[in-house]
Amino acid sequence: MVSSKVLLVLLAVVVLQQVIAAPHAEKRVRRNMIRGRPRGGMKITPPLSSVSHLINFDTVVSSTFTQTLDHFNSSVQQNFQQRYWHNNQWFKKGGPAFLMLGGEGPESSYWVSYPGLEITNLAQQQGAWVFDIEHRFYGATYPTSDMSVKNLKYLSSAQAIEDAATFIKAMTKKYPDLANAKWVTFGGSYSGALAAWTRAKHPELVYAAVGSSGPVQAEVDFVEYLEVVKNSISRNSTECANSVTEGFNLVASLLKTADGRKQLKTTFHLCQDIQLNDDKSLKTFWETVYSPYMEIVQYSGDAAGAFASQLTISHAICRYHVNSQRSALQKMKQVNDYFNLVNEQFGCNDIDYNSFISFMKDETYGEAQSDRAWVWQTCTEFGYYQSTASQTAGPWFGGVSNLPAQYYIDQCTEIYGAEYNSQEVQTAVQYTNQYYGGRDKLNTDRILLPNGDIDPWHALGKLTSNNSGIVPVVINGTAHCADMYGASSEDSVYLTAARQTIANVLNGWLHA
Ligand SMILES: *[C@@H]1O[C@H](CO)[C@@H](O)[C@H](O)[C@H]1NC(C)=O
Ligand SMILES: *[C@@H]1O[C@H](CO)[C@@H](O)[C@H](O)[C@H]1NC(C)=O
Ligand SMILES: *[C@@H]1O[C@H](CO)[C@@H](O)[C@H](O)[C@H]1NC(C)=O
Ligand SMILES: *[C@@H]1O[C@H](CO)[C@@H](O)[C@H](O)[C@H]1NC(C)=O
Repeated sequence: MVSSKVLLVLLAVVVLQQVIAAPHAEKRVRRNMIRGRPRGGMKITPPLSSVSHLINFDTVVSSTFTQTLDHFNSSVQQNFQQRYWHNNQWFKKGGPAFLMLGGEGPESSYWVSYPGLEITNLAQQQGAWVFDIEHRFYGATYPTSDMSVKNLKYLSSAQAIEDAATFIKAMTKKYPDLANAKWVTFGGSYSGALAAWTRAKHPELVYAAVGSSGPVQAEVDFVEYLEVVKNSISRNSTECANSVTEGFNLVASLLKTADGRKQLKTTFHLCQDIQLNDDKSLKTFWETVYSPYMEIVQYSGDAAGAFASQLTISHAICRYHVNSQRSALQKMKQVNDYFNLVNEQFGCNDIDYNSFISFMKDETYGEAQSDRAWVWQTCTEFGYYQSTASQTAGPWFGGVSNLPAQYYIDQCTEIYGAEYNSQEVQTAVQYTNQYYGGRDKLNTDRILLPNGDIDPWHALGKLTSNNSGIVPVVINGTAHCADMYGASSEDSVYLTAARQTIANVLNGWLHA
């Protein structure tokens, strides 16, 4: 008879063998930025758990609102529940109402309650009641049962603007203290543009707007994005810029040999081999290489989490690219490794094009929700495709044809269907600029448009104006939505002055 001890040992050996033999399946991760949108959304909102000790929860209310599904077709009778938050801790009778518009990500009570942000400081100064509504199809605001294309037709900026208008009317009715309140819309990035457009479309409801870093001009082939990335890195030093462009060009030449491609796989810790005959995955590889550089530049120095001092151009890019004896490839590896470490993102980089497309085809409100919604809006309204087609920036990034706008447009077709092709994307973008007026024909007043000039998105913002009612505030040396976050000791004199300008102009309008 075999003793149970022997059996146990045998069993242990078998289990151990299986563990050793099992293929080492590493977690696959995807680049952090998709169409200029980092995971979590374009205005950075910290987890509430990390800031909750500073919030006065006695006055913060989170609620839902019965919203109309289709504001443009009265035969569609459906409604949905839209999430919103509000806080009257600073409200003084007769004061205004501030409405933060959600954009391409989840909202929370953060922007209505966290003290020291631009909106909450202004609320305190003006005795304002502060509201925030979540954008349809983002966060936990689910207008339809799923995100199939037939339902995504209800996802547009025009519907979101009507949501805001409907919401303002309802709150004015619900709270007698707001019966004569002046409403001011706020937003950052896409929702910064929405803030301005809501004022333009509903001057009878919205008195003024502060739209931070709003890309008010839609554009299919957004070549300027990478031009600004190049220029912003160059503002550190020519040494840093030379090393970064040397790196991108080295990647381009390594792609040409089998040995080079092996080196790249190790450097960028890719899950798959680079296949030269798979053109789409090659482009996905380039997106993966550019992504950390894009994100660091887009948020460099923002007083928002790691971007304040760790993920800055100087600390996360140039620190590795200047003053180092390492090869250009090792420097890029350092930038990548540091970026992933700070983001606590571990695993191999998935460059498989088809895996991205099938991820994006998920019609449930699942892991792809925000990306599927945001990419839909780029395909049907804005374009905003960050291509390498610029004659100045393309060669700097290793080749003008590395990432053409067509690569992104083809994804519209693959993800949403044949109807979303080149022609349709062009037409949609033209329509958007016509509907809102674009940068040059914004037909409104009492709008403030802050933009930081190292932010790649500022290239689609309105930076000059001949209309005294439209006030661009261009901020020297700051990144995306920098004015919206709390003041910090690291702030430049330019940022501090810009916040003061915004406060003064708004104060003038509210007390005119
Ligand atoms: C309005 O909605 C109805 C009901 O869903 C639909 O039959 C009709 O085609 C829609 N009209 C337009 C102009 O989209
Ligand atoms: C450029 O980056 C280096 C390395 O981090 C840093 O020491 C230097 O201060 C930066 N210079 C500017 C002008 O930002
Ligand atoms: C403002 O006016 C100047 C001079 O008339 C003109 O050249 C410029 O294009 C105008 N700018 C805008 C944004 O309308
Ligand atoms: C922008 O800031 C930089 C760095 O502080 C400074 O050298 C430059 O003169 C500023 N430009 C303007 C237009 O103020």
